[in-house]
Amino acid sequence: MIPRFDASNFDGITSEMQEAFDCNGVLVLDGLVSAEMCDRLKTRMAEMVDSFDTREHRSVFSSTSEAHAQDLYFLESGHEIRFFMEEEAFDKAGKLTKPLPLALNKVGHAMHDLDDTFSRFARQKAFRLICEGLGQKKPLPLQSMYIFKQPHIGGEVVCHQDATYLRTEPEACLGLWVAIEDATTENGCLWGIPGGHKTGGVREAFRRTPDGDATFTETLEETPFDEDNKVPLEAPMGTVLVFGGKFPHMSSANRSDKSRHAYTLHVIDGAAHYPADNWLRRPDHLPLKGFDA
Ligand code: FE2
Repeated sequence: MIPRFDASNFDGITSEMQEAFDCNGVLVLDGLVSAEMCDRLKTRMAEMVDSFDTREHRSVFSSTSEAHAQDLYFLESGHEIRFFMEEEAFDKAGKLTKPLPLALNKVGHAMHDLDDTFSRFARQKAFRLICEGLGQKKPLPLQSMYIFKQPHIGGEVVCHQDATYLRTEPEACLGLWVAIEDATTENGCLWGIPGGHKTGGVREAFRRTPDGDATFTETLEETPFDEDNKVPLEAPMGTVLVFGGKFPHMSSANRSDKSRHAYTLHVIDGAAHYPADNWLRRPDHLPLKGFDA
């Protein structure tokens, strides 16, 4: 059983929390984010979706546009706020079959630097205390996502480690996963492998090609994930799951009629080296900013 902690009055990582994190690779902090804050993020995201220009998106993702344009839309999203659709939201002819708010898979990846509401949320004291308490010397929020996990069409996410996508040397990435709505086994909550961060290293590296215009995945280690031991990480609204870059996790498709909104913030340690062939690159005009920014 993965222990759960009441974090409604969170004031720092306790020795019990540290022990649970070291042992399981994941920390479950219930009630850390208030229901009002979850609602505020949901409302702000609905406004952003409302003001989104679907024409630009359609030109990038139409069936006649090149895969290259689609790659660039993703590759340049590390310093932008961009909108990604669910695969099952399109019909065979490539037309959206749902209204936009019910067709989105996620929005990412720089809301924490470009939007006031999300920036304030990402830089809250509790998140800084989590990162510092779990050993980061200079926590730097790198990537954020708002994930919709739509009713009926919310896609599966296969077992992976976040350090595949956000690499530092040494490995020093923390993922903060916030339930904006209740996440259950019915609507596609996260699953994880307790202790899986200790059995084997980072399996794959997702890298940019030398010209920077595309990506590829390199296998680093063949050790399979021990998926027979995965457990559900159900999370009521306001719960924060914290996991390190090596923790194997996944989620199944959402076939229920309830959405499962979540917000994720990935924080690296500015004291570690961030290789230039990471997919997420920041241009000079938008450098990474710490919690005091
Ligand atoms: Fe992940």
